[in-house]
Amino acid sequence: MAEPPPPVLVVAGAVKEYGAAVKTRALAGVDLTIGPGELTALIGPSGSGKSTLLNLIGLLDRPTAGTIVLGGHDTSTLDERGLTALRARMLGFVFQFHHLLPAFTALENVLLPSWGDRGRPTADARAAAEAMLRAVGLADRLHYKATDLSGGQQQRVAIARALAHRPPLVLADEPTGNLDTASSAEVFALMRRFNRELGTTFIVVTHDPRIADQCDRIVELVDGRVVSDRPVPPAPG
Ligand SMILES: Nc1ncnc2c1ncn2[C@@H]1O[C@H](COP(=O)(O)OP(=O)(O)O)[C@@H](O)[C@H]1O
Ligand SMILES: [Mg+2]
Repeated sequence: MAEPPPPVLVVAGAVKEYGAAVKTRALAGVDLTIGPGELTALIGPSGSGKSTLLNLIGLLDRPTAGTIVLGGHDTSTLDERGLTALRARMLGFVFQFHHLLPAFTALENVLLPSWGDRGRPTADARAAAEAMLRAVGLADRLHYKATDLSGGQQQRVAIARALAHRPPLVLADEPTGNLDTASSAEVFALMRRFNRELGTTFIVVTHDPRIADQCDRIVELVDGRVVSDRPVPPAPG
């Protein structure tokens, strides 16, 4: 029998406390294993720890206790440089508020992460960014300023930016939380398409049951604990 593929992510016993004098325990011991190519919905009431968990997985913050193993690397052994390098290689981020720079064009926003110490992005980076913007249906908007795009279009730029460097894992924190129903459906459909076509693994925080029900798996947090972790049955018909 073939070996199962190694997980993209293993969270083990993750605890996160905020504050010094008065401690808030945002995560109370979370275990979560995510396999390659899964599209997982992370749900739960406001304050249940969803964003905290995504921040730990995204290497934006460290757990108070427990470990995050990303792509086989135990991140507790890494210093800031190591975390930054692993983040750049492994992760893409999509947030509720897209965090596009308003004075820059769609193309410039997708290219921004590749403006590094070495100056201007390479021709390859530029070609990849243009291809991503075409893939999200914005071929005719490359040179529009972010502020001249609709909310749904801006979020599609954010998805193009998150995926341009082909990270194996994309973390999306309420990516459709600020969109109308039609734009939400479009944005989710794009994530599903990249999941299928590129094999990208997604963890999507959502309050929208219609979106959660289209994922492969639903993990529910309450009070910083996983209270339910279930596969989504295939849609009938
Ligand atoms: N930076 C922070 N400092 C202190 N408390 C925080 C911070 N971030 C989140 N919390 C607290 O941690 C808990 C979980 O928050 P969060 O992860 O944002 O939940 P969710 O994303 O599910 O709404 C809440 O009680 C919240 O008030
Ligand atoms: Mg949140």
